[in-house]
Amino acid sequence: MIKTRMMNNWGCGALIFLTLSCMINVESVRPLEAMHLNDHHGKRWGVLVAGSSGYENYRHQADVCHAYQVLKKGGLNDENIIVFMYDDIAFHASNPTPGVIINKPRGDDVYYGVPKDYTGDDVNVDNFYAVLLGNKSALTGGSGKVVDSGPNDSIFLYYVDHGSSGILGMPNGEYVYAKDLINVLKKKHAAKTYKSMVIYVEACESGSIFEGLLPKNINIYATTASNAVENSWAAYCPRDHPSVPSEYETCLGDLYSISWLEDSDKHDLSKETLEQQYEVVRRRTGFDNLQYSSHVMKYGNASRGNDLVSSYIGTNPANDNYTFLHDSSSPPTPARLVSPRDADLLHFWQKYHNAPAGSHDKLEAKKRLMDEISYRKHVEYSINHIGMLLFGNSNSSSILLDTVRPPGQPLVDDWDCFKMLVTTYEKYCGSLSKYGMKYTRAIANMCNVGVTMEKMAAVSIQTCSN
Ligand SMILES: *[C@@H]1O[C@H](CO)[C@@H](O)[C@H](O)[C@H]1NC(C)=O
Ligand SMILES: *[C@@H]1O[C@H](CO)[C@@H](O)[C@H](O)[C@H]1NC(C)=O
Ligand SMILES: *[C@@H]1O[C@H](CO)[C@@H](O)[C@H](O)[C@H]1NC(C)=O
Ligand SMILES: *[C@@H]1O[C@H](CO)[C@@H](O)[C@H](O)[C@H]1NC(C)=O
Ligand SMILES: *[C@@H]1O[C@H](CO)[C@@H](O)[C@H](O)[C@H]1NC(C)=O
Repeated sequence: MIKTRMMNNWGCGALIFLTLSCMINVESVRPLEAMHLNDHHGKRWGVLVAGSSGYENYRHQADVCHAYQVLKKGGLNDENIIVFMYDDIAFHASNPTPGVIINKPRGDDVYYGVPKDYTGDDVNVDNFYAVLLGNKSALTGGSGKVVDSGPNDSIFLYYVDHGSSGILGMPNGEYVYAKDLINVLKKKHAAKTYKSMVIYVEACESGSIFEGLLPKNINIYATTASNAVENSWAAYCPRDHPSVPSEYETCLGDLYSISWLEDSDKHDLSKETLEQQYEVVRRRTGFDNLQYSSHVMKYGNASRGNDLVSSYIGTNPANDNYTFLHDSSSPPTPARLVSPRDADLLHFWQKYHNAPAGSHDKLEAKKRLMDEISYRKHVEYSINHIGMLLFGNSNSSSILLDTVRPPGQPLVDDWDCFKMLVTTYEKYCGSLSKYGMKYTRAIANMCNVGVTMEKMAAVSIQTCSN
């Protein structure tokens, strides 16, 4: 089931577009005995997080805005929906439709009405944990909204961003480390402030956030866009068919995200279980016989899959009786997908390509493209060099890049070591950045073979001091 993949090379050579045929056949999904959660009179809470910033990452905030519209139409109140988004897209100079964000070609505005709870630098890991734990005194900035939930309430958490082994991105400050997030969830459970929780995560290697870590007995059901070792994929990208209007120059969505969002847009979610939605999303996201696909994964208490989707995110009354089981139409599948680690390169390239010859914009776009490429070279060089210093030329890549723990085991045992080595690397060699994040498994493997912080500091200085 788990498929390992060699690390992608950087550069435009990795921008491989695939034509994917639609492989969805929702009618073959077996109906399940639905379980009603609605009789407990609890409240429904939603926490929506886009962990990136920058127009080249348009799609993450577009996904989150779309998710807000689904929850809102589903009947959740604004006071129970907490949104983290940097909020630099709608009025970005590159946005061809100022004040409007779309999540698919010619789609509706999804930005309308989105609460600006945590924006800009307030989108950070400390506020994220404080919001989940309902701890107002731990907040800095923002609207002050927290998940002030009780024992009968349900919570829906949706997180979309760049990620890598053991971490999720944040636009500001520290990463979300898997182990810290799990500890926050355990604390929330111990405080008896929810009845059940559903977590949807889209990021590269997002399975590593829960693999071997999320307990089955804290009433949490989680799905992730990919397993612990593979990319997830951006969708509705430039040069796609159906085409994103060329003036957008960026991807509008992510494949797993648009799969659950577009399914939720259409159907009566009071007649659809989490398991049924998982099947729809899994089929649309994972193209089993092609290379560029990801395995949508499930973690935690699988029997919560019998819960109705509406127990968490409500349902749009306009979708009454439009049940997913009677839906024989196939949702449109984007024809071409882009590795999220390359979506920013595609954006810079597209900008360069579209700008008039000799213009200031063209020079600027070229500079950003070249800067990104040379930063990628720097990260690759640094990690390779550090590996060589630590393990020698012949052993370095097998230890750092090829070692993948089997499914069911967490990325690393000593999470403090992992965090410390990431921090130490970044102190001397600069931020891993969205692209270099893909080396966190290599850094975790250093911990797994006993590299200390002192040793890491020494080799990082030796590698990056000039
Ligand atoms: C809330 O956060 C504050 C500040 O970080 C901390 O001192 C306090 O213990 C937290 N309260 C709870 C209930 O966790
Ligand atoms: C939670 O539900 C139980 C059982 O229905 C009920 O007895 C209890 O009062 C509820 N608690 C709250 C805080 O609403
Ligand atoms: C999993 O959830 C079900 C309800 O869906 C519950 O009955 C069961 O006890 C849970 N399992 C564990 C291990 O907590
Ligand atoms: C939806 O189904 C209910 C119960 O099966 C029925 O009473 C109602 O008329 C239906 N509504 C529509 C719009 O078909
Ligand atoms: C590489 O690994 C082998 C087998 O573990 C070991 O014998 C050898 O000393 C290592 N080489 C270096 C340069 O560390």
